[in-house]
Amino acid sequence: MARLKPRLKVGVLASGRGSNLAALIEAAADPAYPAEIALVVVNVKGAPALQRAEAAGIPTKLIEHRAFPDRKAFDAALDAALREAGIELVCLAGFMRLLTPGFVEAWRDRMINIHPSLLPAFPGLDTHARALAAGAKFAGCTVHFVRHETDTGPIIAQAAVPVLAQDTPDSLAARVLEAEHRIYPLALKLVAEGRVRVVEERAEILGASGVAARGAAPVLLNPPEEA
Ligand code: GRF
Repeated sequence: MARLKPRLKVGVLASGRGSNLAALIEAAADPAYPAEIALVVVNVKGAPALQRAEAAGIPTKLIEHRAFPDRKAFDAALDAALREAGIELVCLAGFMRLLTPGFVEAWRDRMINIHPSLLPAFPGLDTHARALAAGAKFAGCTVHFVRHETDTGPIIAQAAVPVLAQDTPDSLAARVLEAEHRIYPLALKLVAEGRVRVVEERAEILGASGVAARGAAPVLLNPPEEA
């Protein structure tokens, strides 16, 4: 029998709710998915993310940033835990700590993040309120390789959703979150398959012909023409 290709060993760093973590866990539950969630590290005691991982039988580690004198020491502990578990790729999933340049460099092109905006628009916090305040007609989310500057780095995949006239930050966030749960597993799959290459700080997806190959690329209008 043909030997199955080993799956990429992924470590997820999370701080809170863990819904993106749950989406990754669900995707990786399929043995054909090319990545396995081999470790979940959480920095906040009692975070739902920790319970989600435990419930799925995934090894977890609670590394509380408060227990460390500075960011460098905390990041060293993170790094040690990831290496000890043989992690090959790190996924940030609502991880609310700034990482030191040393850590980011050590995991360069081996650490990805999801951000709830169409980067490079609206990096940082309160993205949905800012998108609404700007009158943006589309919002969305981005999976990207991590660089030192917050929410920058080669873009692997994006999903767009319309902004509706009656949206509040919460309703927009909920629509974007649904898109996050689809795009993060897809982006991780591409990376795990070795199909993502960083060339001159842009991520190229090997073998992705894109929607255009199957016909005209869709043009999304908001408001739609019938409005
Ligand atoms: C998500 O919106 C993600 O894009 C951002 O933080 C939030 C985390 O949510 N980085 P969850 O913990 O995955 O539910």
